[in-house]
Parts: sequence; C-alpha cells; structure tokens
Amino acid sequence: MHKQQSEKMNKFIAPSLLAADFGNLQRDIEMINKSEADWFHIDVMDGVFVPNISFGMPVIKAIKKHAKKTMDVHLMIVDPDRFIEDFKNVGADILTVHYEACPHLHRTVQAIKALGMKAGVSLNPHTPIAVLEDIITDLDLVLLMSVNPGFGGQSFIENTYKKVEQLKALIEFSSSNALIEVDGGVTDENIEKLSNAGVDAFVAGNFIFKSKNPLKTISNLKKLAIG
Ligand code: DX5
Ligand code: ZN
Repeated sequence: MHKQQSEKMNKFIAPSLLAADFGNLQRDIEMINKSEADWFHIDVMDGVFVPNISFGMPVIKAIKKHAKKTMDVHLMIVDPDRFIEDFKNVGADILTVHYEACPHLHRTVQAIKALGMKAGVSLNPHTPIAVLEDIITDLDLVLLMSVNPGFGGQSFIENTYKKVEQLKALIEFSSSNALIEVDGGVTDENIEKLSNAGVDAFVAGNFIFKSKNPLKTISNLKKLAIG
C-alpha cells in the first residue's frame, strides 16, 4: 500500500481535556500519556463565538509541560488570527479554527502552516461541507462538530454521518491529505460506524473522563475505531 494511504488508515483517539478534573490536571494528563490515546484535544472558548469560556494560554502552557503526545488545539474563538503565534508558542501541534469565525480563512490557514503547525478547519453542525471545496487541498484536518460547540456532554447529532461521507468524497475527489476528525458525543456506540464512514480522529470528553476506568475506555475506543 502507498505510504500516504497506510498513514491515513491510522485511527487517532483524542481525549478532550475539557472533561478532565482541573483540580487534578497533571494526574489526568499522565493518564493520557500512558494510555493508548494519540492526541490531547484542547478546547479554547472565548464566550463570544460560543456561549462558554474555557481556558487560555497559561493553562495550555501548563498542559504542554506534562503532555507527551500531539497537542490538538480547537479554537472556538472569533478572530483567531490575533493569537496564532501565541498558540504556537504554548505548544500547539495542530491548530483548528472555525470556518464560521474566519472571513479570510485562506489567509488564516496559511498563517498557521507558516509557523510549522498543522492547519485544521472546523464546521458547525449546520455548515455544509461544500464551503470547503476551494480550500480542502490546503488543509491538514477537517473537524466536524457533531454537537453545537460550547459544552461537553451533549448528545451526538446523527446528521454527522452524512457529512462524513460527503467530506470523504470531497477529500478523495480533490486528492487532499486532510484527516477527518469528529468532535462531540462520541461513545462506544457510534465510534465504529464513524470509523467505517471514514473518520480518522475521534474526540471524546465525557465518555472517557466520566467512565470508571478511563484507561480501559480509551483502549476500548481505539479497538472499536481500528475495527
Ligand atoms: C465542544 C468541544 C468538545 C467537547 C467534547 O464544544 O469542542 O471537544 O469537549 O465533549 P464530549 O465528548 O463530552 O461531547
Ligand atoms: Zn473540541
């Protein structure tokens, strides 16, 4: 198999630290370090783009001190261009911005890549895949929201499967290397179907951190995703 193709067969589990215990953040980071998870998913909310505020640079810097895996940073903020360099400096490896928050998306994506980070674009549940047609070949990742962004612990929106299929077709048609990531309401009940539809990376917050044995939950999700 072609190398790029076999790399794309990888399935990535990305626990969302939004659901971690912030009073024991180092403990939860170490748990992910020793787990079968692949990425740290880090949700940044500004109280403007989404109706919630999470955390910013000092906390991400503290996470980076202990985290031994890829830092997958999801910006739910307006005008992210102001902070691209700051996110690079605090350790982001993948930086994802929202299509809905970027009037000059092409410029934003180039700015992220120019600093050596992977560039992702996220779509809200109501935003059609077609808006990515003219930028898909510039992207390293597309993050499909399977809940309305702002909060963890919501239930998965079923229309996401259709969007995964449309996105997969667009990626193949345009020979893009973009990975497909899904975020929100991912559990052991939908991860297999998502994976079969073409999802590469799976964000899970509450399902991992509120489970009795997060290490085992991650391992089980990984197994289901690989199939
Ligand atoms: C929602 C965030 C998600 C969230 C997922 O706005 O982008 O990453 O933490 O949490 P769960 O898996 O609990 O839906
Ligand atoms: Zn997220």
